[in-house]
Amino acid sequence: MQWGPLQSRLVASLAASLFLLALYLLLFSPNVALAAELPLDSYELGDAPHDVGNVRGAASYEPEFDLFDRSIIGRALPGVATLENDKPRALNLQPGTMACYVVEKSAIFGNDGNSTGGAPLRPLDEASKTLHLSATTCLQPYFSGSNDKRSSPPQLILSVSNSTEAGCRKLSKDPKDAGVTLFEEGAAMYSLNATGDIYVGITAPNVSSDFQGVYNFEVAASLTDHFHRYQKRDAAELLWMDSDSTSALLVTRNLTENEADVRRIMDQGPPYELFVSNRDSAATDGLKHSACGLQHTAQITANTLSNSKSNSPARTGMTLKGPGGFPKQQFYFASLNASSSYIGILVKKSKVAAHEKRQVGDFDTGSVVFEATEFQTVSGTNCKVVTDLEFCNEIQYAVPGNDKKFNGTALAKAYDDYAKTMYANFETVMMQIPCDAPRTSLYSLARNCNDCKAAYKKWLCTVSIPRCEDFTSSNRFALTRNAGQAFPNGSQLPDDVRNPLIAMPYSNASRNAFIDSEIQPGPYKELLPCEDICYEVVQSCPAAIGFTCPQPGLISFAYSYGRREENGSTASCNYPGVAQTPMSAARNLVPDSILLSSVSLAAVMMFG
Ligand SMILES: *[C@@H]1O[C@H](CO)[C@@H](O)[C@H](O)[C@H]1NC(C)=O
Ligand SMILES: *[C@@H]1O[C@H](CO)[C@@H](O)[C@H](O)[C@H]1NC(C)=O
Ligand SMILES: *[C@@H]1O[C@H](CO)[C@@H](O)[C@H](O)[C@H]1NC(C)=O
Ligand SMILES: *[C@@H]1O[C@H](CO)[C@@H](O)[C@H](O)[C@H]1NC(C)=O
Ligand SMILES: *[C@@H]1O[C@H](CO)[C@@H](O)[C@H](O)[C@H]1NC(C)=O
Ligand SMILES: *[C@@H]1O[C@H](CO)[C@@H](O)[C@H](O)[C@H]1NC(C)=O
Ligand SMILES: *[C@@H]1O[C@H](CO)[C@@H](O)[C@H](O)[C@H]1NC(C)=O
Ligand SMILES: *[C@@H]1O[C@H](CO)[C@@H](O)[C@H](O)[C@H]1NC(C)=O
Ligand SMILES: *[C@@H]1O[C@H](CO)[C@@H](O)[C@H](O)[C@H]1NC(C)=O
Ligand SMILES: *[C@@H]1O[C@H](CO)[C@@H](O)[C@H](O)[C@H]1NC(C)=O
Repeated sequence: MQWGPLQSRLVASLAASLFLLALYLLLFSPNVALAAELPLDSYELGDAPHDVGNVRGAASYEPEFDLFDRSIIGRALPGVATLENDKPRALNLQPGTMACYVVEKSAIFGNDGNSTGGAPLRPLDEASKTLHLSATTCLQPYFSGSNDKRSSPPQLILSVSNSTEAGCRKLSKDPKDAGVTLFEEGAAMYSLNATGDIYVGITAPNVSSDFQGVYNFEVAASLTDHFHRYQKRDAAELLWMDSDSTSALLVTRNLTENEADVRRIMDQGPPYELFVSNRDSAATDGLKHSACGLQHTAQITANTLSNSKSNSPARTGMTLKGPGGFPKQQFYFASLNASSSYIGILVKKSKVAAHEKRQVGDFDTGSVVFEATEFQTVSGTNCKVVTDLEFCNEIQYAVPGNDKKFNGTALAKAYDDYAKTMYANFETVMMQIPCDAPRTSLYSLARNCNDCKAAYKKWLCTVSIPRCEDFTSSNRFALTRNAGQAFPNGSQLPDDVRNPLIAMPYSNASRNAFIDSEIQPGPYKELLPCEDICYEVVQSCPAAIGFTCPQPGLISFAYSYGRREENGSTASCNYPGVAQTPMSAARNLVPDSILLSSVSLAAVMMFG
């Protein structure tokens, strides 16, 4: 094949370009001192990935390095990596160094693709667009000092500007300056209206000799929302239901309250991970708002992966149990330490790992870290958390138990079977009531037999399965029960404590004889059912079934029902599905207009 002079020159110049490019690549390959080439004095690049292996507890973590790709052929400055829309990047950073990124104008205004998910934007239409930048700390130097005063290393710094000078060179003296954000608990978020290229610097501060290791961070730019989010809500996203001495049960809020969406949400499976650490542990300090930071440092992780580990202390799954029957994710932790405080941090996982791109039109791919939920374990061992009961499916709290006779599943079943038997009696009564009659002849226009059955079932489950607190509980609303019996380990209460208690019938026995004879939990305290559980039955059921509630003020009321206290931090009465974590809007169901009739034994206690 013959080439004309023009083609020959083209080939020659192409060959020369390729040679230069190869040379460039060689010189600029990682570990070759790129820093020397950099025009900006404060640049130094992160160390090689194998250094991370030295970081305690992070041996399996291998961050990726990508500072070099676009800088070689792109239009950006050498050493400045481009940050593409919705594509997180990760890097190691030695203390005292800085990394720099540019979000190019074309990435913001969509000239080079459909990054906004809609029609391509014409730059003239918009003078500026809002750009959301976010970064999280995945690793930080660890404390190796000898003194007892452990401390966390200083936080990373995010600097943003429309010029290289301010974004990527020197940090302003005053960190309060616009564009300079100190990470908080391992996370920084920043939004600005961009008109052109935006430079993003991440600076690792110098650390004292008490610290060893490197920082590692993830950074992302997005036009839709912060890719890494920390969300503080008025009301907790994660609710602590109850704990005993070794286990705890937590659930999310309803993931939907739209009936039409229930199936879809359940099919999607668990959307969250939960990271739990002892409150005394310093491991997650400084990283509590960072999804990747928690992943590497939390003591216990609950996710779909941990479910499949045989000796995992955590289980999680979707459930429809609890009030309303809406989808929730439930977390159950076993093998916790007694009398300890824990913090649980809920994380909605990113659907995109560093260096992948989120799907066009998917506005929900980044990670969200929610505000921590605190919970405690107790000291005594005769209250046991039960959940997933088949019949009493709203019961999710600690109940009187006995390690020597029942494991968790067996205990739950014993109570559930008992309640089921009692319910059968009620159904016999209900069969006398004309439920299938036309509406006009029903006992009430507002309520039907299904309402009655539901109210009665809730009442029955709550009174047959008492909510248990330690005998040592200081909750002034909790009532002592079964004081005369020995604890499962055989020890009795000391005589001076025991004698006054066994003299009173209500504190020498449980609400139901079944508990004392079958479960034999020994002394415990009961948080009484909320009175409105009883009123709901009166309101929902035909008078013919003869169900009544005791009147407040009577002694029979005081030993059978509790009342809601509006401003207390401890629960004052038991209502199934109500969490220990305060929820913002407490409902008050106590009706004004109920006529309370005289005491009916059935509704007060269930002795015999
Ligand atoms: C870290 O310390 C060195 C030497 O004192 C100094 O030159 C550098 O600016 C410091 N870096 C930061 C980010 O403070
Ligand atoms: C951009 O959008 C058009 C239609 O809106 C589509 O045909 C095209 O494949 C998209 N390009 C990319 C790179 O997503
Ligand atoms: C950078 O931002 C400043 C103020 O926010 C603005 O006055 C200036 O024109 C911008 N420069 C460029 C190159 O966009
Ligand atoms: C961006 O501009 C809009 C409209 O001018 C303004 O409402 C918004 O507060 C600006 N956002 C930021 C982060 O400055
Ligand atoms: C879920 O919805 C039900 C019914 O509306 C409500 O009673 C319950 O409190 C909700 N649960 C949570 C945890 O918000
Ligand atoms: C339980 O306590 C032991 C000893 O204090 C401690 O080493 C361990 O980390 C604790 N475990 C949990 C899950 O809190
Ligand atoms: C038996 O259990 C009770 C309640 O958990 C506890 O207070 C007591 O110390 C235990 N006694 C012995 C001998 O372990
Ligand atoms: C719990 O006890 C029941 C019967 O007592 C037994 O069948 C079951 O295997 C036990 N479960 C566990 C997890 O030990
Ligand atoms: C208290 O209960 C125990 C059994 O738990 C029983 O033996 C004892 O007689 C009761 N005492 C009184 C005063 O009723
Ligand atoms: C609410 O708190 C106030 C002040 O602490 C107290 O006086 C009041 O009795 C409390 N109300 C209830 C219902 O506990």
